[in-house]
Amino acid sequence: MKKLKLVLLILPFSIVLMNCNSTKKGAEYKAVEKKISYNNDIKPIIANSCTPCHMPPQGRKEPFENYAQVKEHIASIIERVKLPQDNRKFMPPVNKKPALTEAEVAVLVKWQEQGMQE
Ligand code: HEC
Repeated sequence: MKKLKLVLLILPFSIVLMNCNSTKKGAEYKAVEKKISYNNDIKPIIANSCTPCHMPPQGRKEPFENYAQVKEHIASIIERVKLPQDNRKFMPPVNKKPALTEAEVAVLVKWQEQGMQE
């Protein structure tokens, strides 16, 4: 009898936990399947984290102002944002702007893998 009570107590919790788990997996699946595009996904990341330095006329560093420029430099962009933050080549410069989130870096990588759609 005691055992049955215990099971009845635990059951609702495990159902809740199982549901949480499956919704999370669903979201991850969607994120993986999503087609990344420059205009929807990449441009806002660059605009948020790489301005003004890489945005002419103010920025005088390698410009990442449009699709063609970002596409051309995607390999070095990914390389820089993935460096350890104490590397002096890390972008964006540590004391100037917050680092990209893991999710943002993943979007850049995915965009490159998917063939860099505009
Ligand atoms: C506060 C100004 C600043 C911001 C913001 C900034 N950068 Fe830079 N970036 C620089 C400077 C200065 C250099 C040149 C020195 C060097 O190569 O480290 C540079 C160089 C680079 C280079 C090498 C370019 C080349 O010609 O080889 C890449 C790639 C780069 N940045 C990517 C980024 C990315 C991606 C972001 C945004 C996530 C970013 N930077 C944000 C200042 C900035």
